[in-house]
Amino acid sequence: MIQQTNPNRRTFYLTVIYGLSGLMSAALAIPGAVYLLFPPRVKKSGDWVEAGDVSQLKDQEPSELVFKRTRLDGWRSLTEKTSAWVVKEGGQQIAAFAPQCTHLGCAYHWDSGSKNFLCPCHTSAFSMDGKVLSGPAPRPLDQYEVKLQGTKILIGSIKKAPVVS
Ligand code: FES
Repeated sequence: MIQQTNPNRRTFYLTVIYGLSGLMSAALAIPGAVYLLFPPRVKKSGDWVEAGDVSQLKDQEPSELVFKRTRLDGWRSLTEKTSAWVVKEGGQQIAAFAPQCTHLGCAYHWDSGSKNFLCPCHTSAFSMDGKVLSGPAPRPLDQYEVKLQGTKILIGSIKKAPVVS
């Protein structure tokens, strides 16, 4: 004798199976739809970061200020340490140079004896205002946008220096 399954029980099992299938499909489809429908955030430029206090600087004596900067990489927000060579040119005039040599990107340093920035990789030399004095560097040091807010030094985005012919 064959037992008949109760139609109400069958309907209940089918409803549960279809319901779970729908939930699993939604769990897989929603992240994909969000990925396709919402574009990644574009890297914001022009954000200002506090790098230090103007009282840390001596006139005509560059100081390397280290600061943290947050940037957006697709959907990720990355905080990274970077630095700037900051020069107080007298009064409220301040210049901030990106820390990479414009030849192949080595880190340069301030040489207080010669009063120049020197790159140890291929011996490029830059003046205190970032101009190329010697070596293979094709252009002056890149500069950050910089401004003062009270005594705080705020660093903006990098402005690439043009190639000098
Ligand atoms: S990287 Fe600085 S001189 Fe080559």
